[in-house]
Amino acid sequence: MIKQAIIPLAGLGTRLLPLTSVFAKELLPINGKPGIEYILDECIEAGIKEVIFIISKKKIMIKNYFYKDKFYKKIIAKKKDTRIINEYKKILKYKKMIKFVYQNEPLGTGDAVLKTKKYIKDRFFLMLLPDDLIVKNNCSKSMIKIHNKYKSSVMASMNVDRKTVSRWGIYELNKKINKNNYSIKGVIEKPSIKKAPSNKAVIGRYILPKNIFSRLIKQKPGNNGEIHITDAIQSLINENYKFIAHNFSGKYLDCGTMKGYIKSSLEISKL
Ligand code: UTP
Repeated sequence: MIKQAIIPLAGLGTRLLPLTSVFAKELLPINGKPGIEYILDECIEAGIKEVIFIISKKKIMIKNYFYKDKFYKKIIAKKKDTRIINEYKKILKYKKMIKFVYQNEPLGTGDAVLKTKKYIKDRFFLMLLPDDLIVKNNCSKSMIKIHNKYKSSVMASMNVDRKTVSRWGIYELNKKINKNNYSIKGVIEKPSIKKAPSNKAVIGRYILPKNIFSRLIKQKPGNNGEIHITDAIQSLINENYKFIAHNFSGKYLDCGTMKGYIKSSLEISKL
């Protein structure tokens, strides 16, 4: 059973400047609701009981959002506004399931994951990258079903335009398991068009084995000097660990770029 999820939030968010010079991008509203709440709701609906946020001192605003509730208490004591009361109840529900760990230097997603090592209890855990919103279908829930069936790691997959492969982690597929699932031979972080083994990209949902921590400890920096989770995944694949690429059926929204962020609000308002 997958009961724990981790969410790396310690990146700089440079693609959303100037907003991110003072604001945590994960709290920016998408059609009136902070992006991170969509991610938490996906976790809750998928049966996750504990979520570990990896933040930095610069992102302390995220912790305050869930923990500084004096303001709510004061307002609610003064006026019985049901909207505010319901928002507060929601925050209390989220707060109960969130733990915080710190990555004060953004050394890469792999390094962020490593910070959660001592908190992961079971053999597998879920990781969600909050820039990647998937709506209309709960991707984490589908992936957990596949994990329960095949007892292996699972990553979300989507076909991308071949011209854009250098922006993504790209898979080399092995065998088709069934209509939407493939076993993976390899994964390469942000390859050139020439080096890309396919146009199938890793999207920000992963079911990872606890053993990944021992590989991450030894992991050397890769592309742009960062420690990438994809490189640790490749080490496990080299040791014959099974990873499945799952073509999810929801709609993917990229909230990490300004254009994508604006489009996400528009798309969600139409749902
Ligand atoms: P990205 O590198 O795609 O985004 O990280 P970023 O760093 O937030 O933003 P840009 O690229 O400067 O615009 C993917 C996810 O991993 C987290 C980020 O917060 C984001 O959710 N991350 C990245 C970390 O937690 N730590 C890191 O060292 C790097």
